[in-house]
Amino acid sequence: MGRRVIVKSRVPKTYRHQELDRSLRSSRTKNEARLIQEARNHGVPTPIIYDVDLDEAEIVMEEIRGERVKDVLGRTDPASVEKICDEIGRLTAVLHSNGIVHGDLTTSNMILRDGRIWLIDFSLGGRKATIEEMGVDLHLVKQAFLSAHSEIFDSFQIVLDSYKRNFEGAEGVIDRVREIEGRGRYT
Ligand SMILES: Nc1ncnc2c1ncn2[C@@H]1O[C@H](COP(=O)(O)OP(=O)(O)O)[C@@H](O)[C@H]1O
Ligand SMILES: [Mg+2]
Repeated sequence: MGRRVIVKSRVPKTYRHQELDRSLRSSRTKNEARLIQEARNHGVPTPIIYDVDLDEAEIVMEEIRGERVKDVLGRTDPASVEKICDEIGRLTAVLHSNGIVHGDLTTSNMILRDGRIWLIDFSLGGRKATIEEMGVDLHLVKQAFLSAHSEIFDSFQIVLDSYKRNFEGAEGVIDRVREIEGRGRYT
């Protein structure tokens, strides 16, 4: 139909039992497609899903032709950084206030197009989000700022401020991030 698409395929892992492998690939494909669609229904920019093939473990989706936020943040002006951080906080808040966790919320899974941020790669995401899961999402954003964007780490505060403004449960999640970091699970 003349549209540019991405086909995301989960390839068989031969080290896994064949039936188990099939069922894992199929359920992960279903989970991801559903979350991409749900997030979109709540107003979070995500690719349009054109087709889902559970047997082949494939999702055919709109190609978001833009630039990874990871690549943009390192070289952009302060005003744009502020706008991007504000939007990252807001989108995270919209997901969480609707009970969705992304699962791999790094700036590699965010694409900037037409001045908007699109979220991709919900493969590790879930619904009925717990405070712990939301805390891990936020922790991952923070880690991305610490490692890839250390020169603008202070801008992470803009992400947090926006997250607080847009999500009633924000304080509880932010407290949990501190706890997660205190546990040193990721260090
Ligand atoms: N809908 C899309 N539009 C544009 N690029 C995409 C899209 N989906 C995936 N990609 C590209 O493919 C890469 C890998 O896809 P992703 O869904 O993140 O898979 P993985 O789970 O392997 O990280 C992304 O980092 C991005 O560069
Ligand atoms: Mg990815």
